[in-house]
Amino acid sequence: MALSGGLRLRFAAPDVRAAYKKAAGVRHLTQTTDSNDRLQERDDMRAKTAVVLGAQWGDEGKGKIVDVLSERFTAVTRYAGGHNAGHTVIIGEQKFVLQLIPCGVLRPGCRGVIGNGVVLDPIAFLKEAAKLRELGVAVDERLFVSNRAQVILPYHRMMELGAESAPGRKTIGTTRRGIGPAYEDKMARCGLRVVDLLRPELLKAHIEAACAEKNAIAWALYGNETTALDSEQMYEEYAAAAEQVRPYVTDTGRLLNKILAEGGSVMFEGAQGTMLDIDHGTYPFVTSSSATAGGAVTGSGVGPTKIGTVISVTKAYATRVGEGPFPTEIREAVGDDLRARGMEYGAVTGRPRRCGWLDIPLLRYSNQVNGADWQVITKLDVLDELEEVPICVGYEIRGKVTDEIPADVLGLEEIKPVYTTLKGWRSSTEGIKEFDKLPAEAREYLRFQERESGARIGMVSTGPDRDQTILLPEFAAALDQIHA
Ligand code: IMP
Repeated sequence: MALSGGLRLRFAAPDVRAAYKKAAGVRHLTQTTDSNDRLQERDDMRAKTAVVLGAQWGDEGKGKIVDVLSERFTAVTRYAGGHNAGHTVIIGEQKFVLQLIPCGVLRPGCRGVIGNGVVLDPIAFLKEAAKLRELGVAVDERLFVSNRAQVILPYHRMMELGAESAPGRKTIGTTRRGIGPAYEDKMARCGLRVVDLLRPELLKAHIEAACAEKNAIAWALYGNETTALDSEQMYEEYAAAAEQVRPYVTDTGRLLNKILAEGGSVMFEGAQGTMLDIDHGTYPFVTSSSATAGGAVTGSGVGPTKIGTVISVTKAYATRVGEGPFPTEIREAVGDDLRARGMEYGAVTGRPRRCGWLDIPLLRYSNQVNGADWQVITKLDVLDELEEVPICVGYEIRGKVTDEIPADVLGLEEIKPVYTTLKGWRSSTEGIKEFDKLPAEAREYLRFQERESGARIGMVSTGPDRDQTILLPEFAAALDQIHA
């Protein structure tokens, strides 16, 4: 029986293997190393990767957390979503709102990668990059865009606006950025990828065919509500944008694997949140991508065996924008107080966020779906003035108490949350940097959340600034491994 290429290389002399690795640019682990080396290398890589994602419905404050942690990483990659995300980072006096570009670019020495799982609006991308450049961020040296990412074109927005207001269709309350229709085209295998955006003849033919089709569908479904799009004008605009996007484009899967093979570290920056995930969220009131940890694999081109740590970011309470079930939503005035104190308005659309109490069954579910090792709690200071803090510890559904998350909207809407109430701390936690300096009641609130939800607390954010952060020693030690 003929030996496979992999086996032949296993027995090759080390210098031959080295030459092979060099020629390949990226180490092809399965072909060039023996099995012990391979396992060791895999473990080394696992130790240098982390996924950071939202545990709830997005807006957990991931921007700040990614920014704080990015100091330790060679690259930060987005793996899902598009410019529907809104990540706010405050550095000193400067405020940055990133929608599509990963927060890692704000750190000198850290590369920002837009992975293949992202849907990229070229015009929005160029605007965001220009804004960052104006603010003094060296985006041109640090930013990379996947040649396999899908492109959002104006007809995606047209279809979304039509669908959101069409009689008989469920209004999702989307960000109106064309995200859903772009993913629809991806899955229907009629999307345009960045690599094709860069080929003018292909782009022209694609835009002409797509406009003819989408204009006809929009007219048939939504009639006078939509205006037909001009394919020639669209082509001119996007062909020009493509040339400006071109310098950023590369095979980012290859780039990320190379960084890891060379001993570097990669953070996978989640967008939206677990409950907005297309599979695991409150479907159909979700976004159209895989926001959960699994998405980091398919959306980046880095294999699952190379991804180590999962860090889940959760608010000390809960919020949601857009439509859809929200079991612990507060309908009384205290919800408005939380919104005002937490400045809970969408970073992308400015919409007021719905506010609710912390939901432990949901957090447990989220930690399970993501395999979260650590959790980071944000916005603890927003609860500072409360006399007591309710936490949802179970669901009553048709008289039965459970902690199982119903899969359907009707089931979710039937939930009557079962609360336990913890004592509030009624003193300021803003800017506290050590866990032991927090008021005892605040520590108990956090420890309760940790005990009940199944992931260790690694960090607590006590304000918007980089240094308004508590880093727990065991988490700091785990992070040191990544940096080593
Ligand atoms: P889409 O992602 O624009 O299709 O919107 C689908 C749902 O996800 C809507 O309820 C949006 O409000 C929500 N959503 C999308 N992106 C974010 C985000 O970054 N934070 C919070 N909610 C989001």
